[in-house]
Amino acid sequence: MRVGLLTGGGDVPGLNAAIRAVVKRGEGEHGHSMVGFRNGWRGLADGDVMPLTRSHIRNVLPTGGTLLGTARYHPHAEDGGMDAVLATLEAERIEALICIGGDGTLHAASKVAEAGVRIVAIPKTIDNDVWGTDRSIGFDTAVTIATEAVDRIHTTAESHNRVMIVEVMGRHAGWIAATSGIAGGAELVLAPEEPFDIDRVVKFLRHRHRAHASFSIIVVAEGAVPAEGTSMDYETRLGPFGEIVAGAIGERLGAELSERTGFDTRVTVLGHVQRGGTPTPSDRILGSRFGVAAVDAVTAGSSAVMTALHGDDVVLVDLAEVAGKIKQVPADLLGVAAALA
Ligand code: F6P
Repeated sequence: MRVGLLTGGGDVPGLNAAIRAVVKRGEGEHGHSMVGFRNGWRGLADGDVMPLTRSHIRNVLPTGGTLLGTARYHPHAEDGGMDAVLATLEAERIEALICIGGDGTLHAASKVAEAGVRIVAIPKTIDNDVWGTDRSIGFDTAVTIATEAVDRIHTTAESHNRVMIVEVMGRHAGWIAATSGIAGGAELVLAPEEPFDIDRVVKFLRHRHRAHASFSIIVVAEGAVPAEGTSMDYETRLGPFGEIVAGAIGERLGAELSERTGFDTRVTVLGHVQRGGTPTPSDRILGSRFGVAAVDAVTAGSSAVMTALHGDDVVLVDLAEVAGKIKQVPADLLGVAAALA
């Protein structure tokens, strides 16, 4: 069988582990001929093909990024995009396609599957907000990096008696904020799931700095917003694919808190450092497990499904159930962060 593979959307550490697993299992165990498309759906639409053999995946397991390249391009949203994708698949005689991506890529995958293409998807996003799976590739590495950053900021916050704001990624969901906040011992976690009241934040800081400490750390997800009707004006600014302008909420919050409390305040925007570099063992293992499961699934004739982690088990879920939904942080996890303030 000729099997195509692409990675779409923002890169994450652990993608190369998944690509390696797909190629090893596909070529080795099943005898498939594996074909890569460069730069996500764009490469598929443009016919930008590369062979994928064992020599292409040598030594990639510990590396970040994606050896296939990636792009934010959604064929169903572009004029002629779907036709171009279907034409390439036919010209390259691709019988099944494995797509590794987050919400945008998975949505596109469900549209292409509806057009009759055999597709198995693999979830990746540092934001961990893909519906239907407990975890997505890349999340563990991002949390590890963000936690280390919070640990490092702790010592300088304490030395200088400062309020330190750490902005992490997470446009629709605050998974990185909640988990790195708990793991790093932040005083406050602000996430998109629970719009915040700036007056309560100010009150909390004043009380803490009077009664217990002379420094505070706030971890804020880039998608966090003030609650409607509260006393802070802020409008989220989005890029063309719904990505949030980095630093916007962190800087705005820093200015507001500094003005209202008079506390010496600094802002750190972690940005793409959360998505770069070597994957943790956990992300390498998850990528490897999803890669093997995806190839086994296409070989068995499955289509329009996504590999998912449920507890400790890798399972298949319907792509149509997943596409277009966001998995938000449950209130009890945010409650743990709040309880440890
Ligand atoms: O989807 C993952 C993500 O990291 C978001 O948290 C963030 O808003 C976005 O990607 C940033 O995208 P870009 O790499 O296009 O700046």
